[in-house]
Amino acid sequence: MRPENERKLAVILGLVLLAVAALCYTALKPEASEEPIRMLFRGSAGDVLFTHQVHTGDYDVDCASCHHNLDDGDEVYNCSECHEAEASQDDDMMSRTDAMHAQCIGCHEEMGAGPAECAACHATPK
Ligand code: HEC
Ligand code: HEC
Ligand code: HEC
Ligand code: HEC
Repeated sequence: MRPENERKLAVILGLVLLAVAALCYTALKPEASEEPIRMLFRGSAGDVLFTHQVHTGDYDVDCASCHHNLDDGDEVYNCSECHEAEASQDDDMMSRTDAMHAQCIGCHEEMGAGPAECAACHATPK
């Protein structure tokens, strides 16, 4: 092979390897990394810090206990995809705030662990 062609071959090989590496990276990237570590909800009643990954890790809560639409491998949606700002009367749908309160406080009370008092979740509004 002429040196010129050898160099071309090397470049092509390099590009192929790069493409394979990129494919492997996307295919093998752990899905768990999409899970937020923690979230800060801002609102008129004061910010709420939610330790998302501590709940799934240390407290061992299933994804579907909160993302309750997760059957048959559905994706995770924001609560507000379904629970809108105002409760809907015709289909009995809780508002986003009511749904969050019912779920967060409901579990804390049921388990006898975790905050149920307003100020234990909501930082004093500025
Ligand atoms: C204790 C309740 C709880 C548990 C358990 C939980 N989540 Fe969440 N997760 C939430 C809440 C609340 C939100 C915020 C939703 C919103 O803003 O409407 C959220 C948001 C998310 C988001 C961001 C959605 C977006 O588009 O912004 C992802 C992704 C997610 N959770 C994945 C997971 C996965 C994966 C698990 C299980 C390993 C899990 N969650 C377990 C309550 C929980
Ligand atoms: C894909 C739509 C959808 C998403 C996303 C969704 N919900 Fe719901 N939710 C519903 C429907 C429909 C109902 C009423 C029927 C039922 O109880 O399943 C409901 C009911 C509830 C209830 C009352 C449960 C009961 O047993 O009475 C709570 C609490 C709740 N949702 C909290 C949440 C929270 C918090 C989130 C986000 C982490 C969330 N939901 C995301 C559709 C959704
Ligand atoms: C299915 C059960 C469950 C749900 C739903 C849940 N929690 Fe918790 N939470 C726990 C448990 C268990 C603890 C640990 C309490 C302890 O060990 O003292 C906890 C502790 C906490 C704490 C104090 C310690 C920390 O990790 O920050 C906060 C704040 C909290 N939860 C906020 C929330 C919020 C906000 C939501 C709703 C978006 C929520 N939780 C939903 C089970 C739950
Ligand atoms: C377990 C934690 C927790 C407790 C306890 C709690 N809240 Fe909340 N609160 C939240 C979360 C999470 C939200 C949702 C924020 C969002 O929708 O982004 C919220 C939202 C609200 C909102 C709506 C704010 C806005 O601007 O949309 C009000 C008002 C509120 N809470 C008042 C209260 C009051 C009053 C109490 C006590 C009776 C209380 N909360 C107890 C976690 C809690």
